[in-house]
Amino acid sequence: MSMVNPTITIIGTGYVGLTTSAVLSNAGYKVYAVDTDQMKIDTMKEGKAYFFERGLDDFVRNGVESGRLMPTTSYEDSVPHADIIFSCVGTPSKDDGSSNLDYVYCAAESSAKCMKDGCIYVQKSTVPVGTGRGVIARIGNVNPNLKFDYVSNPEFLAEGSALFDALNIDRIVVGGDNHKALESVLRIFKKVDDFSKKLDHSKYKAYVGFYSGKVVNIKDSDFSQREVRTSLESAELVKVAANSFLALKISFANSVAMLCDTVGADVTEVMNGIGLDHRIGRAMLYSGLGWGGGCFPKDVRGLISVYKENNLDSPIINATVEVNNGMVAYVVKKLQRIVAIGSCRIAILGLSFKPGTSDIRSSQSILLANRLFDMGAEVVTFDPQANREARKELSKGVEICTSIEEALKDSDVVVIATEWKEFLEYDWKSARELVSGNVLFDARNRLDKKILTDIGFKYVGIGR
Ligand code: UDX
Repeated sequence: MSMVNPTITIIGTGYVGLTTSAVLSNAGYKVYAVDTDQMKIDTMKEGKAYFFERGLDDFVRNGVESGRLMPTTSYEDSVPHADIIFSCVGTPSKDDGSSNLDYVYCAAESSAKCMKDGCIYVQKSTVPVGTGRGVIARIGNVNPNLKFDYVSNPEFLAEGSALFDALNIDRIVVGGDNHKALESVLRIFKKVDDFSKKLDHSKYKAYVGFYSGKVVNIKDSDFSQREVRTSLESAELVKVAANSFLALKISFANSVAMLCDTVGADVTEVMNGIGLDHRIGRAMLYSGLGWGGGCFPKDVRGLISVYKENNLDSPIINATVEVNNGMVAYVVKKLQRIVAIGSCRIAILGLSFKPGTSDIRSSQSILLANRLFDMGAEVVTFDPQANREARKELSKGVEICTSIEEALKDSDVVVIATEWKEFLEYDWKSARELVSGNVLFDARNRLDKKILTDIGFKYVGIGR
């Protein structure tokens, strides 16, 4: 057993597990990455990630080639070596919004059979408060004589900037009963922080600070200032409370945007004015089509369920969801006032739930494309990375194009649904030659209204 240079096993190779295993192996740890999905493990063995995330392939390849990153489908071949196990499995929503913990319990029980004494079981999966105690009990049931510690260590990386976030740790939250175990987990990330300070991050920085307006420089800050030690229950609540608060900020900005549309104000100007107040901050106040992805929708609904289970009301959080659920309909209504949707060819640019990722989970753009198609529009779409992923979620008649130009050609309306840099930096002057109509609906409020208007587009935003 070595807690100075521990061997690590990571269970689950989703966004969190794969990024964490790639980073820890590059920082010098011996890391087993376990997933029951053979395709994911085979892709890792080839030195690649099975999803698009800037810079990650290089880290996976380097980890595998160095021999320190060992992908496997077997618990028996990996868990017995581990001094520290990170559980990074999925916690999807059930139909009622509560979290499905099957994978969490299954990973714990499968590990329990072959964990060694003194091992620390770290929960990185986002779980409802109270789950940790249940996991501890289950491991104890499977292996009553095992001596182990349990630590909750929520993960805050965002897709599109996952690698940068994992290397530039803004805070590490560890919660549990045994302070020695908390220190062992903190030490792992201190080493990552030291390793990260020597790296050039420019290669995978494209979307860093995209929603905050500024890039935080972690390099100059002392790691101990970023450590947060808590009880087990507090750490479990930190993650869902953080994500719910961020979603709340976006829904707040969208609520103000709808008022702006009516009173003739510009929401971007209003948020710029609000955001400079350091108590508020500009981050997550970009109004538009609303929030989606693998985390916010699931975590916010999960938190509402926890309130319910505890016989408490959650009006603020309910409203956060309600506003977001109305955003696609709001865009449709605004568009309806300008054109006859049923007789238009509409180009939807962007299908992923945010730029920088091929992830299409709970993508507002896809909802919008399908809604417009149902209303009789001819809908053509394009995404720089998510075309393949989007196919199964888009209605059959929605066309997917292989270039921006193909989508723009002969369209009556152009909608920026996901704010990829490819669209923001596009030569919109030349686009005027391709399109038939002149309506440009910037559903992410990211283009320059004046420039687009001067070019000859009828620019429409949300709240501007
Ligand atoms: C989020 C949290 O940011 C991250 O800390 C956590 O670990 C996982 O959940 P992610 O889901 O990758 O990360 O996306 P994020 O960048 O937070 O954006 C979420 C959604 O909100 C996207 O659909 C995005 O388009 C939208 N958004 C974000 C806005 O509409 N406006 C904003 O100002 C910010």
